[in-house]
Amino acid sequence: MNEIIALMSKKGGAGKTTTAAALAAGFTAKGYKVLAIDLDGQANLTYSMAADADGATILDVLMDKADIKDAVKHTATGDIIPASFALDVADIRLTGNNRNMLLKSALETVKPEYNLIILDTLPFFGVLTLNALAASTGVIIPAKADIFNLNTFKRTCSLIKSAQDAFNADLKLYGVLLTHFKPNTKNTRELLELFTQAAKECDTRVFNSKIRETVAIQTAQALQQDIFNYKPKGNAAQDYSAFIDELENLIIKES
Ligand SMILES: Nc1ncnc2c1ncn2[C@@H]1O[C@H](COP(=O)(O)OP(=O)(O)OP(=O)(O)O)[C@@H](O)[C@H]1O
Ligand SMILES: [Mg+2]
Repeated sequence: MNEIIALMSKKGGAGKTTTAAALAAGFTAKGYKVLAIDLDGQANLTYSMAADADGATILDVLMDKADIKDAVKHTATGDIIPASFALDVADIRLTGNNRNMLLKSALETVKPEYNLIILDTLPFFGVLTLNALAASTGVIIPAKADIFNLNTFKRTCSLIKSAQDAFNADLKLYGVLLTHFKPNTKNTRELLELFTQAAKECDTRVFNSKIRETVAIQTAQALQQDIFNYKPKGNAAQDYSAFIDELENLIIKES
C-alpha cells in the first residue's frame, strides 16, 4: 500500500480529525507504516495524537524553512507532522505560482517510507486544502449524519471534482463516511437514503461502515488517547475497526 488520503469536508465538526486519528492508530496497529499530517491551524490532530508541537511544523515545511524529515514526530499511533496556530497565516504567507503544489513536492522524499499518509484538513477551501487535493491519491469525506452535512457534502463533492478536472485527474474519491450515526431511527434511515443518492450523483459511495455517536470519542480525545486504546470493545473502536478493514480492501482493490 502506498496511498496519500485526505480527510476533507467544508463542514466543521464533520469528524475529519477524529477519523484521521483513528486511521493513524488503526493502520499502525495493523503493521502499516503511517504518517499523519496536520493541515489545520486548530492543531486538533496534533493534540489528539499527543504529538510534541515544539520544533518544526508543517508550516515550516511548506515555507521551506525546515526539511520534511526533521518535522516528523514519532508517536505510539504513528508518525505525525504537527501543526500550530501559526498555520492560520498560510493563505497569506504561501505565495508564488506553485503555492498549491508545495505539499506534493515536499512529500516526494518521504513517500517511499510510508504505506499510508493521512492528511487532516480544515473546513475551508484555501491554499492548505488545495495542497492536500494536489498531493493526495484519494479522498474520504466524513459527514455528520444530518441534513446540513448532506448539503455541504454535495458542495464538497463538486469542489473535489473541480480539483480532479483542474490538476489531479487520478484522485480517487473513496466515499463518504457517516459519523455521529444514530442507528434505527426514521430520520437516520431517510438521511441514509439521501446520502446514498447524493453519493451516487457524485460517482462515489456511502461506506458500509458507519461511526455511531458515542461520548467515548470525546473523552479519549480529551485524554489524548486513541479510541482503540481507550475503550477497545466500545462502539467507536468497533466501528472504526470495521471502517479500516473496509477501506483497506477498497484501497487494495482499486490500486
Ligand atoms: N462518532 C462520534 N460521536 C460523538 N462525538 C464525535 C463523533 N465523531 C466526532 N465527535 C466529536 O465531534 C467533534 C467534531 O469532530 P472532529 O473534530 O473530528 O471534526 P472535524 O471535521 O475535524 O472538525 P473541524 O472542521 O473543526 O476540524 C469533536 O468534539 C469530536 O470529539
Ligand atoms: Mg478537524
